[in-house]
Amino acid sequence: PRRMTPRQIIIDTDPGQDDAVAMLLALASPESLEVLGVTAVAGNVPLALTEVNARTMCELAGRTDVPVFAGCPRPMMRPLHTAEYVHGPTGLDGADLPEPTMPLQPGHAVDFLVETLRAAPEASITLCTLGPLTNIGMALVMAPEIASSVREVVMMGGAFFEGGNTTPAAEFNIWVDPHAAHLVFTSGIPITVMPLDVTHKALTSAARLQALRDLGTPQGDAVAGLLDFYDRYDMEKYGTDGGPLHDPCVIAYLLDPEMFGGKRCHVAIATDDGPAIGMTLVDWWGVTGLEPNATVINEIDAAAFYALITDRVARLPMG
Ligand code: RIB
Ligand code: CA
Repeated sequence: PRRMTPRQIIIDTDPGQDDAVAMLLALASPESLEVLGVTAVAGNVPLALTEVNARTMCELAGRTDVPVFAGCPRPMMRPLHTAEYVHGPTGLDGADLPEPTMPLQPGHAVDFLVETLRAAPEASITLCTLGPLTNIGMALVMAPEIASSVREVVMMGGAFFEGGNTTPAAEFNIWVDPHAAHLVFTSGIPITVMPLDVTHKALTSAARLQALRDLGTPQGDAVAGLLDFYDRYDMEKYGTDGGPLHDPCVIAYLLDPEMFGGKRCHVAIATDDGPAIGMTLVDWWGVTGLEPNATVINEIDAAAFYALITDRVARLPMG
């Protein structure tokens, strides 16, 4: 088959167990994805932890070649709200991983985003956002012209038919920084959204966890441990066999888009300071007449999704 050139991506993330698995999936797929850098943001846990956790995952993957930058320590307008109640105090509870030795890059993640995009050809870089959109929003304010270098933003965020997971209206990533989300959705950049409507169809069942343990590798054990811890909160909350797996949907979409389904919709973000703040108003039925600004995904082949994750984790460590 014709050899595809790897898609250039930047992963913006707030690890977080599901972010961590998404990172491993990307870092284990160099034939498809060239990870130009990882930019950490405050979200699930404070920035001081998310930047360490991002480096921990690069090391677990054997990918210390990938530069990791620390970005914004809080949302653009609202105070930071974290989610230790889900992710544990470290943000990577469930796996006992060593402190990273690879260095954090000097310089701010937003400067890395701006400089990298300014130097990039038109529509060449895909931004994979796994947390609050603060870094991206700030970069767009600092240098609006960078939008033309972004091929696509593929994000985990938002919810519509599924309802919110942080308030009845809002999903965590958008709720933490709705103003940044508004800047992204009004930027004109092509966007593909993985909302709770699709991530809640990808549950980490006991059998899927066992398949990871059966790899018998430190990486397989780490992923099983992370997910076993992570899905406890959601299993309790939703009463399901396994919790939803959010962030890896972003990377799986790039590796195998056929696994997903959805449609073009207009999406607006509620930023007014009321009970619906952070809601993604998905015009699924086209009632606003507004031009669609995103592809909203609501279908997934969950078996293929977990098979892909297990297959790629089995490759680790790289190199
Ligand atoms: O609502 C789920 C999202 O919030 C995921 O990205 C999870 O990691 C948290 O950041
Ligand atoms: Ca995340």
